[in-house]
Amino acid sequence: MKNIGLFGFGCVGEGFYRLLQLSHYSDARIHRIVVKNPLKNRSVSSELITYNKEEILSDDKIDLIVEAIDDDVEAFEIVSSALKRGIPVVSANKKMVALHLDELIRLQRRYKTPLLYEAAVCGAIPVVQTVDDQFEFEPINSIRGIFNGTTNYILSRIQDERLDYEQALKQAQILGFAETDPISDVGGFDSAYKAIILSRHAFGLSFLPSEVFTYGIQMLTSDDFEFAQKQNLRVRLVPSVFAIENRVVAFVMPQFVSEKDPLFRIENENNAVVIDGTYSGIQTYTGRGAGSYPTAFSVFSDVRKILEGKRYHYPITEATYLQEKPENVILDVYLRYTETMVKRAIKFEFVREGFVDENYRYVTGSISLQELIDNRELLIETNSSVILLSDKPLLRKQVKRTLKQDAVLSVF
Ligand code: HSE
Repeated sequence: MKNIGLFGFGCVGEGFYRLLQLSHYSDARIHRIVVKNPLKNRSVSSELITYNKEEILSDDKIDLIVEAIDDDVEAFEIVSSALKRGIPVVSANKKMVALHLDELIRLQRRYKTPLLYEAAVCGAIPVVQTVDDQFEFEPINSIRGIFNGTTNYILSRIQDERLDYEQALKQAQILGFAETDPISDVGGFDSAYKAIILSRHAFGLSFLPSEVFTYGIQMLTSDDFEFAQKQNLRVRLVPSVFAIENRVVAFVMPQFVSEKDPLFRIENENNAVVIDGTYSGIQTYTGRGAGSYPTAFSVFSDVRKILEGKRYHYPITEATYLQEKPENVILDVYLRYTETMVKRAIKFEFVREGFVDENYRYVTGSISLQELIDNRELLIETNSSVILLSDKPLLRKQVKRTLKQDAVLSVF
């Protein structure tokens, strides 16, 4: 029987503790739990509880650490010192893993000690392992999906039940889906962390959060949802990582999805990961993306895998792909704006449609990713919605080719 040292007894930590009991798993048990707040009442034997992290990190009886705390800075300290001491770790902390993945890979290699973090990406869906293992010898063209349960829950409730944004967010918080500061969910940052982790496994590239253009759902209004409804579209918050000719681009944005898109029917806190493989084609993985037991289930699976000797391969070397320059990436978007100066400030490559009413104005067309990055603050300050109309970005040179072809067609 192996001894687990558990950090954190919140939504995921307590879920893991209970799941371990329910499963009657007999290869490991919880030996000690480190928590922060001595004033909180916990439904667990007080003998297991300590407030001193060294009581786990320096205890020879500990065979494995499960890190399930909120604070990414403290989590990195715990995980890195455990790896340096040769203690295998399972982590559920997406921000910590996304911000430090290169260093964590280096530590795993140097100290020959594994770190698994399936629970950090899309709750119960085993997607880190899938990208790392199943696709080891198959180039991936793109990974996109719904990586955040809170925002999908909010969008579903607004679209299906006409609930207002604040009510829907409150429900997601009560159900334990939302982060302590929900801006991480609704602003798209949590989705970006998960995309960064998958990108490292799929393309060998570690994006910094500042290199992933992120636009959230807080600015959406009923006009945007009506625009969607009239055309039988649904709004989803979609992180995307695309490889185009060995260059990779990553962004997180709301998107209008049609019935043909696998994301159309993903409701509530469910997540989906759509992987386009060069040989296998498009595969969609779906499941619960947030909540205590779904996330704890992935932690539990990782514990079992570590005890069976499993490690990530990180199959793609760092030199295989480069980041694409945002000025070369062209996106098809809908922009709802309130102030005319926004439309004047933002330069589209090509405008397809414009609509102006007293209270509702939008424009659709092609825009470069760089233009969105340069104007992100202005767009947020003026409560503008930016929503993708097509899932695939194009390169500038491909757009020029398409426009030339259209011009030839219009001549004949
Ligand atoms: N706040 C996250 C979400 C929790 O809503 O998806 C799971 O990572």
